Amino acid sequence: MTSSWSPSSWQHKPAAQQPEWPDEGALDRATKHLGSLPPLVFAGEARALTGQLAEVAEGNAFLLQAGDCAESFDAFSADAIRDKLKVILQMAVVLTYSTGVPVIKVGRIAGQFAKPRSSPTERVDGIDLPSFRGHMVNSIVPTAAARTPDPDRLVQAYHQSAATLNLLRAFTKGGFADLSRVHQWNQQFVAASPEGRRYDRVADHIDRALRFMAACGINTESQPNLHEVDFFTSHEALILGYEEALTRQDSLTGKWYDCSAHMLWIGERSRQLDGAHVEFLRGVDNPLGVKIGATATVDEVLALCEALNPERVPGRLTLISRMGAGKIADALPPLLAAVRDAGHPVVWACDPMHGNTFTSDTGRKTRDFDAVLTEIAGFFAAHWAEGTWPGGVHIELTGDDVTECIGGGEALGHADLDDRYETICDPRLNGKQSIDLAFQVAELLDRR
Ligand code: TRP
Ligand code: MN
Repeated sequence: MTSSWSPSSWQHKPAAQQPEWPDEGALDRATKHLGSLPPLVFAGEARALTGQLAEVAEGNAFLLQAGDCAESFDAFSADAIRDKLKVILQMAVVLTYSTGVPVIKVGRIAGQFAKPRSSPTERVDGIDLPSFRGHMVNSIVPTAAARTPDPDRLVQAYHQSAATLNLLRAFTKGGFADLSRVHQWNQQFVAASPEGRRYDRVADHIDRALRFMAACGINTESQPNLHEVDFFTSHEALILGYEEALTRQDSLTGKWYDCSAHMLWIGERSRQLDGAHVEFLRGVDNPLGVKIGATATVDEVLALCEALNPERVPGRLTLISRMGAGKIADALPPLLAAVRDAGHPVVWACDPMHGNTFTSDTGRKTRDFDAVLTEIAGFFAAHWAEGTWPGGVHIELTGDDVTECIGGGEALGHADLDDRYETICDPRLNGKQSIDLAFQVAELLDRR
């Protein structure tokens, strides 16, 4: 582990979940091209996020990481980006207002284009096809040609990430996130629901406080803190050729940063200690996440902490548990205790989505909102019992009015899933379910 690192040293390690690119020359041209393009984020921003996450590690802030399971080349529009941002801002407002704790906002966005798969192939109508691996790699269309990995998609993913990030920067710094607009983030279909009305009541309180402050001579536009938000990007660093191509040395500090996003995480399927993903990410100075499933052992988790954060920098490492509602109560506490006792200053976040996926009666991949909440409640209970800080949540959601997860305020059933099932990968919470979740998390946090 202590051997020398370079942006390409991962190439000497076994790399899980990499596509088989049929044309090495084309792959080489694509990654060389990416290597010549400007970085998407810069080192100072990644350092700022590490600093904010250090506050979470110390129990003074809360992490809200949310966005699509997988972004799509097809569902790419200003409205979709705006609506996703709206629901994340709404959740952040609910959490900040209800708990009085700063909320660090990180999107699964502007780079979340690659998916790990349980099997490299998939049988469609009696034919074995390569599995869909996300729009950065291939198309979801079930033909041999469409499923063939195409390196030009790496470049397209870069450009879509750049355009997405540009709009996010404009929205979050240009006035859209100004606190005086809290009511306007509530979309029509949400506003009419009980969750939406509950949100409007919080927004009324904030409006009133802002009017009071305006009367005292402080208005939101003159206060950057009230007028803007820091919004960071993140994705699973899965396709290592892409990540390597966007890795640059910071001229100020001489350190390496993966400039494809502010924060990168390693998935449950690619976190092997001697594997390429751990090797690559240990050498970049971005804040990192690692997904931790129910079967992870204490030794594995401690070894990951040691490999990825040997200097024990607070905020550098976020452990994202994804265990399942039925397993978290047994599986999480020993890990919390061991990491605490070893003195690793990690952020603990809860991904209540990936351990709770099942196939509905109608053959749709879905999640039950109640199971999502149960896992989050188990996460909080385990932390209160161990005296550790339940630092955040990691959610798959969309601003749209989709029907992909059952349950929630509207009590969506299996038969409703066909109405608006639009995801290209895992089922996401819709706008109403997301706001509902934020209120429930705020209540759990308040019970400390
Ligand atoms: N800048 C502060 C923050 O990010 C306050 C703030 C401004 C805010 N606009 C917001 C908080 C929108 C949540 C949502 O916390
Ligand atoms: Mn997913």
